[in-house]
Amino acid sequence: MKWDPYECQCLFLLLFHHILVSTTERFEVLGPSEPVVAVAGEDVVLPCYLKPNISAADLEVRWFRKDFTGSVHLYREHQDQHESQIPNYRGRTSLFSEELKKGNASLKLTGVRTSDFGEYECFVQAPYWYDDRSIDVIIKAVGTQPVISIEGYKEGGISLVCESKGWFPQPQVVWMDSEGHNLTAGPTETQRDSRDLFTVRRRAIVLEGNSNSFTCRIIQQLVNEIKEVSTNIPGEIFQSAHTRKVVLAVFISLAVAVGSGILIFYFVKLHRKKGISVIS
Ligand SMILES: *[C@@H]1O[C@H](CO)[C@@H](O)[C@H](O)[C@H]1NC(C)=O
Ligand SMILES: *[C@@H]1O[C@H](CO)[C@@H](O)[C@H](O)[C@H]1NC(C)=O
Ligand SMILES: *[C@@H]1O[C@H](CO)[C@@H](O)[C@H](O)[C@H]1NC(C)=O
Repeated sequence: MKWDPYECQCLFLLLFHHILVSTTERFEVLGPSEPVVAVAGEDVVLPCYLKPNISAADLEVRWFRKDFTGSVHLYREHQDQHESQIPNYRGRTSLFSEELKKGNASLKLTGVRTSDFGEYECFVQAPYWYDDRSIDVIIKAVGTQPVISIEGYKEGGISLVCESKGWFPQPQVVWMDSEGHNLTAGPTETQRDSRDLFTVRRRAIVLEGNSNSFTCRIIQQLVNEIKEVSTNIPGEIFQSAHTRKVVLAVFISLAVAVGSGILIFYFVKLHRKKGISVIS
């Protein structure tokens, strides 16, 4: 095989480049393997760093989200570049300049919003090398202590409503008796507030039992949060519900009886007029 001097030069350059990159510029971008949990309204640091810990001050650091055009934060030519920044992140992001020199490209995000939920990419670019890492961010907001209110008598029982505000993501609402058995309950009603957090409300119709203690539990599995409240319904209230039921039943029977009486009366009268006896 004949060596073309030009080809030879190219090969040499390639080899040289390879050695250069492998000794001076190769790095890995590392981040947390677990999702980062950020609390709505607070600040959070999304970790990202280089291994080995070479300075990233001269490199390009780009934080972005795959589903969005523009960047979350872009550092290039020794400064932050804001032109391509996604509007939602304007004024809320920063790198740690002292840390950047130690290969730490972590991003600080202030005033966390529910829309910050999702997957982020930390991308670091050197002239001849780059690497990136994705970081999952979960936003959580722990809502208020649930409140149970008595709505009144319904369907032979007592209707209770449980409500809790300020959750993210949407939590589950479970009604239980004193032994921890699930009660049948209506659908969970949800609303979003001005900060996009969830208000949840769920109704259960309870009947008199052994203890008359009922628990409403709000569960947010993703962020491992539970809040619950119990209430005791005095037996007399159930008695009263029962009495109402009896009274209602008597009233309905009476109404039916009177109604039938009137009908029969007119029926008889009508037929008498025609000279036909109904009771033959
Ligand atoms: C890089 O890491 C090494 C070993 O962990 C540490 O001794 C060194 O101080 C770090 N260098 C910088 C610039 O932080
Ligand atoms: C990077 O900097 C942030 C902010 O100072 C710090 O919380 C984090 O521990 C640093 N990470 C590493 C790997 O040094
Ligand atoms: C009660 O309901 C919740 C939510 O539907 C469910 O996750 C849980 O397993 C149920 N518990 C029992 C004891 O059935």
